[in-house]
Parts: sequence; C-alpha cells; structure tokens
Amino acid sequence: MAPTPVSPSASSYTPANATITMYCRRFVGNLLKGQTVGVIGAGRIGSAYARMMIEGFKMNLIYYDLYQATRLENFVTAYGQFLKANGEEPVTWKRAATMEDVLREADVISLHPVLDKTTYHLINPERLAIMKKEAVLVNASRGPVIDEAALVEHLKANPMFRVGLDVFEDEPYMKPGLADMKNAVVVPHIASASKWTREGMATLSALNVLGKIKGYPVWGNPNQVEPFLQENLTPPPACPSIVNAKQIVCCRPAIGKALGANTDRLVSTC
Ligand SMILES: NC(=O)c1ccc[n+]([C@@H]2O[C@H](COP(=O)([O-])OP(=O)(O)OC[C@H]3O[C@@H](n4cnc5c(N)ncnc54)[C@H](O)[C@@H]3O)[C@@H](O)[C@H]2O)c1
Repeated sequence: MAPTPVSPSASSYTPANATITMYCRRFVGNLLKGQTVGVIGAGRIGSAYARMMIEGFKMNLIYYDLYQATRLENFVTAYGQFLKANGEEPVTWKRAATMEDVLREADVISLHPVLDKTTYHLINPERLAIMKKEAVLVNASRGPVIDEAALVEHLKANPMFRVGLDVFEDEPYMKPGLADMKNAVVVPHIASASKWTREGMATLSALNVLGKIKGYPVWGNPNQVEPFLQENLTPPPACPSIVNAKQIVCCRPAIGKALGANTDRLVSTC
C-alpha cells in the first residue's frame, strides 16, 4: 500500500465524499506504544510532556538537556518497574550525550528548550536531514528554535515527515509555503489555552502587582524554586509566586479589592 500523506483536515472527508476504501487507507498512523519519544529540553514542560507520552502511550524516552533530569529519570524507572510487575513490557529512558542522538533515534521529537543564542535555529537543515523520514516533530517552545524556511523545504521533500507547530519564527506570520503543507498541523500559539492555565496566569499577574505593592523582593533565581514547593513550610515572601497568594491577599484584602480582584477566587485558585 502506498503511503498516504497526512491531510490537515480529516473532517473534510465525510461519508458523502469518501468510499470505505478511502476510510481504511487514509488517516492511518503508527502505533506509538513501544516507539521512542525524544525530548529536547527536559525542564518543567519537557518533563511533563515526556510523562504524558510515557504514561499515555507507553513510549520509551530519549532526552537531551544541559542538565540531568533526575526526577524524570526516577519516574520512568519506577513506572517501568510497575509495568514489569504487571506483566507488561517496561518503558525505558536514556539521557543522550548529544542532541543528534535524539534526532536520529526518536520517532516523535518534541522541542522544549528556552530560546536563547544556544537554541536559535537548533533545528536546521543538517539536523532535519538526520531525523527519520517518518518522524513527527513538535514545537510548542519558541518559533525561532526551528529554521522555519528550512522546515518548509524538508516537508516538501519528505511527505511522510510530519510537524506540529504551536509557535512560529515570525509570529504571528508563517514562512511562505508552510500553510499549504499537508504534513504540517499548525495552531495559533494556544499550548497554554486551558481555562485552568489562563486563570492561573491571570492570578499570577495580579499577585505580582500585589506583591510589588507590598514590597516583596523579586525572587532572584528562576531555577531555584524548591523553597516555594515545600508543602509544610510557608513560601518565601517574594514575587513572582502563586503559592504565597494567601499571604499576600489575606494581609492586604483592601488592595486586592481596589485592584478589582476577587480575593476569594485568588486564594481558592491557588
Ligand atoms: N507555547 C506556549 O504557549 C508556551 C507556554 C509556556 C512556555 N513555552 C515555552 O516552552 C519552553 C519550555 O518552558 P519551561 O517552562 O519548561 O522552561 P524550563 O526552563 O523549565 O526548561 C527549559 C529546559 O531547556 C534546557 N535547555 C536550555 N538550553 C538548552 C540547549 N541548548 N539544549 C538543550 N536543552 C536546553 C534547560 O536546561 C531546561 O531544562 C520555553 O521556550 C518557553 O518559552 C511555550
């Protein structure tokens, strides 16, 4: 059977315009179970994404990050042991020595690094060329992590290579040709668009204003957030932080009301 390129819109095929044979052959994907998910940038979002793919699809993990993702590694080890104890094939993990190792080995690759000068055009023509011809590449980090013009050329030359993009190099615009590619699924920067997340973002912004008014210092090191995560301890009086909502809002309810914030909601959201 000849491979069928992915269509961006399965919903455009209805019983009125498709035969049973078309249904059988079209929109058929590979089984993810037992395949390898590659994560580049195993920080907060990269690790959460990895867990989702491992728990949801029982994929094996290969990741590349400048730092060891110990918590993620421990999770995959424990989950693998759990599966084995239940008579199932255990999942595995590997920390790659180079990013190229991830690109060569993974079936699904998701990009989650920060955008800085080390990650600008991280995915370039040379790196696209070493990925599997049928790989799936996902980018919900920042657009310029991918050389988007090179990606369009790669998609044209490799119809079974697929990409899912939430972010774009010249956001809100796309490089010429990208919108026409049947093997690209694009969404308009909506990775954070759940009600829970957006309410949390709004709450955090309001708390920053309150924290500033209250004279809280700005927390200096964004990579050192453990003091905010100790369940039985009061979080440091610093902003930005959502976990010290009670401290901030309860001490100054009048300020919250003056800013138009529903203070009960601020506390309960956290
Ligand atoms: N699409 C959206 O709506 C959306 C929402 C939130 C965050 N983001 C983006 O998602 C990305 C991840 O966010 P996060 O909160 O998980 O960040 P994070 O800081 O927790 O994780 C980033 C990880 O990238 C790693 N990293 C840095 N440079 C690297 C390199 N050269 N190679 C490999 N790894 C490298 C870091 O060590 C870190 O572990 C960021 O780019 C952020 O801007 C997108």
